[in-house]
Formats: sequence, structure tokens, C-alpha cells
Amino acid sequence: MCGIVGYVGDKQSAPILVSGLKKLEYRGYDSAGVAVINRNVLNVVRATGKLKNLESRVQTDSPQGTVGIGHTRWATHGRPSDENAHPHTYGGVAVVHNGIIENHLALKDELKRQGHVFASETDSEVFAHLISDQLKTGKDLPAAVRAAIARVKGTYALAVVTESDPTRIVCTKESSPMVLGLGEGQNFVASDVPALLEHTRDFIYMEEGDLAILTAGGVDIYNRADQKVNRATRRIDWTPMMAEKGGHKHFMHKEIHEQPRAVADTLRGRMLLSEGDVHFEGWSLSPERINALTKITILACGTSWHSGIAGKAMIESLARIPVEVELASEFRYRDPIVESTHLAIAISQSGETADTLAAFKEAKARGASTLALCNVIGSAMTREAEVTVLTNAGPEIGVASTKAFTTQLVGLYLLAVKLGRARGTLSVKAAQEHLTSITEIPKMIEDVLKCEASVKRVARDFMGAQDFLFLGRGPMHPVALEGALKLKEISYIHAEGYAGGEMKHGPIALIDEKMPVVVIAPKQPHVAYEKIIGNIEEVRARGGKVIAIIDEDDTHVATIADHVIRIPAATALLAPVVATIPLQLLAYHVADLRGNDVDQPRNLAKSVTVE
Ligand code: F6R
Repeated sequence: MCGIVGYVGDKQSAPILVSGLKKLEYRGYDSAGVAVINRNVLNVVRATGKLKNLESRVQTDSPQGTVGIGHTRWATHGRPSDENAHPHTYGGVAVVHNGIIENHLALKDELKRQGHVFASETDSEVFAHLISDQLKTGKDLPAAVRAAIARVKGTYALAVVTESDPTRIVCTKESSPMVLGLGEGQNFVASDVPALLEHTRDFIYMEEGDLAILTAGGVDIYNRADQKVNRATRRIDWTPMMAEKGGHKHFMHKEIHEQPRAVADTLRGRMLLSEGDVHFEGWSLSPERINALTKITILACGTSWHSGIAGKAMIESLARIPVEVELASEFRYRDPIVESTHLAIAISQSGETADTLAAFKEAKARGASTLALCNVIGSAMTREAEVTVLTNAGPEIGVASTKAFTTQLVGLYLLAVKLGRARGTLSVKAAQEHLTSITEIPKMIEDVLKCEASVKRVARDFMGAQDFLFLGRGPMHPVALEGALKLKEISYIHAEGYAGGEMKHGPIALIDEKMPVVVIAPKQPHVAYEKIIGNIEEVRARGGKVIAIIDEDDTHVATIADHVIRIPAATALLAPVVATIPLQLLAYHVADLRGNDVDQPRNLAKSVTVE
């Protein structure tokens, strides 16, 4: 996720911008830059890679100016490079942008026809061109920014400076975060509080559609209707570490709560509702190639492998292509059957996991087409793949995957719809229904997060358990696997995930009064509700304690389970996204109550780049 910092005051701005950007490093980035204004001339310094690269260029170039904007870029459109780094400039305007412009291709085409030349592959550069055009019509900077954002569909936190108006910064936001920091004779803007804590403790959180004009002497804010408004100033006493976590105790907790936003970002710009189709940027698989596919092989490890199992059900059901889900570490060491009519899909948060990468290369070398479903653009897997579908979850810092998993599920669902349309297994109407149901998911996640207090009570009751069993059938099987993995990796409690039907083939021997069993039992035909109730009865008959995840309106399971956690009802293939949330919260609270290092559990690394 990109980071923005802006400064207007009486000090040299470049060092302030770089030091603010350093405080936003936790958001993840792959390039950075600053633009400062000196006597009506913009000075732009940008560098790919770590901030120390930008810092040394700033030291060498020493750009002068007391007004400036800076940015760390987490690439989404266009690879990480100096050209794609922000600020982007055009016609004396410099912009930094966090978000996604959904209609950037149409806008770029239009501007190119009018003679504009683009210097980067980014969507963000469009803002500089639009604003510069508006300034030429005689508008002042705030009016030019207003007119430009009216043309844009998407999300943004945007800060703008221009040579023709060198004493102020104009910023505006829609769906991406932006805060203003208030000082004496100096004012600031940033995408998050930690960037500014060394300068001020007084902040204004901008609201959707707000436009702010910052000068050294003050800050004026206008709402969406262009009326001047007073927004409350909040005094923030967080330590810098607390601020990075947005006030949450751990990154994992923050990332669990970010999921409504993360999933909305996975969907953004991709749903072609009226056509009943899905748009993925850079998609190069023709309908002919898709129709010729005889098999999909999903390659992944850990949590990403679990999302692959859920993805198999989605793709087989909607696109009717046989799908195999392979543990990448196993696939690479056997002699797999791969043909040119196969598509290999690597699923990976980091895009760097050694086993997944090696398996993906192996499949590619044997002739498969390749697609990476990945959270990190420019990572090894995206470089290897013919097609990349980004999950757009934003950087995940907690070692235990949370938002990476749910965004993978949603990405796979979109992919299943796209393949289904190309193969003719889904009608326009059916695809529209699927896409409509998926738009409800961010709100459902918001609702299910409200179960946190009851999950915490369950966590208190069972924090001393030595073993846990997780059971789920059909689409809930990968959810059971994921719930068990989450719990074991951060609480260090032994946990197993099983398909409900497998219980009597072995794990039932483990059940006694000390064994909590989490049963994921929404009322879906694919989940075989009656059968999972049978599992609950079998556990109870042996004295086991049942924690059931059930639909909001379920009246039966509540009478037979020891604890119930209610979730909103989603369609069968999407229910895993919703049902996973309480299990993430359960793992989190058990681990936290046990006093564990939740974000950095023992023996684990965020990115497993060795075998
Ligand atoms: C579990 C977890 C790991 C990763 C696995 C693959 O919470 O994070 O199991 O899912 O190491 O990592 P990626 O998705 O980066 O390939």
C-alpha cells in the first residue's frame, strides 16, 4: 500500500518528507520519491528499491524548497521502476496518489489523442495530466483538482503541488486513507499518523470526498459539495509502534479487521456487471486457449494451498475444468504429467516462496500455461507468469496469513467466473448473479467481525486446551484446514483440520472431554448440513466440546453445541470467506491470551524463500 507525506512550512521539505516516508515503511513499498518546489520550479527525485536509495539521491541532489510531497509506491499498475515511482509530473503539476483509477485506460487513450505523452505505466500519472489541463483553462489549483477527480472512477488519496501556485498543497481522498497534521507555521498531510508523529500530535482525519488546502499558516477543508467544513482535531498520544498498527495491539489483528477493505480492493475495477464478465488487467489468455484447457493445476504451500482447495471447487463448479491442487513441495519432486493444454496456477501471498516458485517453473518448463495469483507485483512468481492476477490485499506483516487468504478466495472466485464465461459454462445472467453475490462479501465480513466479543469468550474458555479438532465438509473443508493451521502456528496448540466425513476413519479416537472440536456448519446444500450435525452428535456422545460456526438463523445447532458463533449466510462457494473470519479471531485471541508473540511466532518466517 502506497504511503504519502506532504509538508508546507518554513523548513527544507525534502528531509522531512524522507523521514516521514521512513515511518510508513511498514506499509510495504518498492520505490519512492519526492517533489519539492523552489521559486516556481519543481524538483523531483525518485528511486527504485529501499528508501536509502532515495535518501542518498536526495543528499546528492539536495532539492531545495519548503513545500513538497513524497511517496512510497507499492506497485499495482506497472512494475517497480524509477519511471513508475511517484511523484508523477506533467505541465508543472506533481502528484502523489494512493489508490486505483479504474477508468485509467479510457482516460489515457483520450488524453493521448489530445497529444499528451505519458512517461510511466501507472494509472496515477493520469491525475497530473488531467489537473494540468484544468489549470490551463484558468482554474485555480483546488478547482482544477476537483474537476480532475470528477473524471476519475476509483479510489484515491491524492496530494498535488504546482509550479504556478507554489505555496500550497491540495489534497483529497476517496476510500483511501489520508490525515492532516497540524503544526505552528507548518502543516502536513500523510496517509497515516506515524509519518507525522515526530512533528505533531494534532490530527484531522479527512472524510470521504474532502478536499483540503494546506499552507504554512493553516488548513482549509471543503466537503464533497464544496462547502467549507470544520473537521474535529484529534490529539493522538500513541507511541510510534502503536501508530503503525493503527491502534491495534498486533499487525495480525489489524489485518483481520482490514479484510472488508482488502476484499473490496480485490474486486475493484474487475467486475463487469452489465456484461456478466470479469476484467483482469494484462490478461492474455484468449478464449480459444481457455477452451482448449484440459486441466488446471494449482501449486501452493500452507495457507495459499488451502485457498487452492477452495478454488478447485469454484473453478470446477463454474468453469467445469478439472482442477488438481498440489502441494508445491511435492509436485516439484515427482515426475508430474504436464501438457500444453494445462494451466498452472501458482497461489502465493509473497510471490517468493521457494517451493511454489520451483514447482511453477517446472510446470512452465513442461509446457503448461502459467498464471500467478499473488499479492506482490514484481515478485519472482509474477515475473515467471504469463498472466498475473493481483490480490491487492496490501502488505501483510503478521506472519500468519489472514487477509491474503480471503483475498485469494475472492480472486479465485473472479477467475472461476471469467473462465466460466470464456468456456460458455456460465451464461451472462448466471455470471451476473455470481458477481452480484460477491459484491456483498465486504459488508458480510464487516458484520461477521462483530462476533469478536463472543469469539474472545470462547478463546478464554479453551486457551488451556492441548489439542483442537476442526471439521468442515465440502467448501468448509479448506476452512477447517485453515482454522487449524492458524491456531497451531500462533498459539502452539496442536490442531488438526479434517473433512467431516473422515472423522470416523481415525480422529474420532482422539475425542474425549478435553477435546474442543470446532465444527463449521453453515446451512448449505454442499456442506451436507445434516451430515455435519451427525458429526456434532458423534463428538458430543464422546464428551467432546463443540464450538459451532453457524448461520445467523440456525436454531437447531445452538441446542446441541456448547458454543455457537453466528455468521451471515453467503452462497456455498463464497461462504468460506465469511466462515474463516471467526477462526482467525479465535486463533488470534487464544495466542494473545497465552501471551505469545502473535506477529512473529516462533520458528516461522513471513516469506519462506528456502526449501
Ligand atoms: C500461514 C502462512 C504460510 C504461508 C506459506 C505460503 O499463515 O502464512 O503457511 O501461507 O508459507 O506463503 P506464500 O503465500 O507467500 O507463498
